[in-house]
Amino acid sequence: MAMDLEDRYGAHNYHPLPVVLSKGQGVYMWDVEGKRYFDFLSAYSAVNQGHCHPKIISALIAQAQTLELTSRAFYNDVLGVYEKFITEYFGYERVLPMNTGAEGDETALKLTRKWAYKVKGVPENQAKIICCENNFHGRTISVISMSTDPQATNDFGPFTPGFIKIPYNDLNALEKALEDPTVAGFLVEPIQGEAGVYVPDAGYLKKAWELCKSKNVLFIADEVQTGIARTGKLLACDWEGVRPDVLILGKALSGGVYPVSAVLADDHIMLTIKPGEHGSTFGGNPIACRVGIAALEVIRDEKLAENAYNMGIIFREELENIKSPMVELVRGKGLLNAAVIKPVNGKTAWDVCLKMRDNGLLAKPTHDHIIRFAPPLIINEEQVKEAVEIIRVSLKSFE
Ligand SMILES: Cc1ncc(COP(=O)(O)O)c(C=O)c1O
Repeated sequence: MAMDLEDRYGAHNYHPLPVVLSKGQGVYMWDVEGKRYFDFLSAYSAVNQGHCHPKIISALIAQAQTLELTSRAFYNDVLGVYEKFITEYFGYERVLPMNTGAEGDETALKLTRKWAYKVKGVPENQAKIICCENNFHGRTISVISMSTDPQATNDFGPFTPGFIKIPYNDLNALEKALEDPTVAGFLVEPIQGEAGVYVPDAGYLKKAWELCKSKNVLFIADEVQTGIARTGKLLACDWEGVRPDVLILGKALSGGVYPVSAVLADDHIMLTIKPGEHGSTFGGNPIACRVGIAALEVIRDEKLAENAYNMGIIFREELENIKSPMVELVRGKGLLNAAVIKPVNGKTAWDVCLKMRDNGLLAKPTHDHIIRFAPPLIINEEQVKEAVEIIRVSLKSFE
């Protein structure tokens, strides 16, 4: 019924796994018939704190009953409190609040261009931003203009100019691209999530940051998927001690409860944007601010980065121990992991996901042959082992 309705009345811009969910709590979701599943997608890493976290939901309800939206035409009594909280939390001078991840990326692109003209001195309309092949930064026209995925770009042109695309994890390519004096920024995912959890070589981010510094180019990290404890540190850039000049956050900034994204930067970058030059009706609304504070407090108070680190080690070990001919490779950091699947007897990653669904675990293939495993970060050791057993039984059923 629910599937028919979506099929009949909705745009066909997604291809969901056939399961209809009606409830979520912690690491679990339930379907309309009451069957329980481990959630191993976490809404693409938005639900890091677990489904319906009581502290985040309480913050949402309390604020929704008090003041929901003022727009930025007026001040409200929550935005400043949130701005102080989040900037101190991540160690930046300023924040620009938005709603979705793609808007966060758009904001970072505009900010970088503005900085290029106002501070770096790039001639008008010449600013360029380097991005990486196989990136995923969202779905707007400018964001897909950076994409190298034909599914994202086919029949959506013309595209926004001003991007230089280089291979990911390739410092020589970066060094060469940085020779262009009109380059203003380098936008990078610390781990490429949508591409299939591609973890770059150790030292890549650090060296890339140094190269950017040497050319007065902003290092812009899209941590929409990797940030907020997912990889076993608060930010994935923390693994290499890199502090991005511009930091983009989304998804788990609300624990999956509300669309909340943010761009963080210091004064000399952020204050190049003046009143009226950028914004959003909903960005920085009181509900988003209260939800954002609660979601970040949960990450800190429940030590979710540490848990993601520890559970990630156990998960990868256990997954590798399955020794299935379908599992070519296991990779990831913290609780952002993936298995590369080799088809056996005509059975693909999609079939594995259907089988895991039957056995009580939900995950989704990315790019046909990769399955991402990203449970809520509150998962415990017993649950990790139970989940891996479901994955094992599902894989073995195809042998
Ligand atoms: C790295 C990254 N950036 C940006 C986005 C876009 O976020 P949203 O779907 O909220 O626009 C995503 C979504 O998966 C992402 O993984």
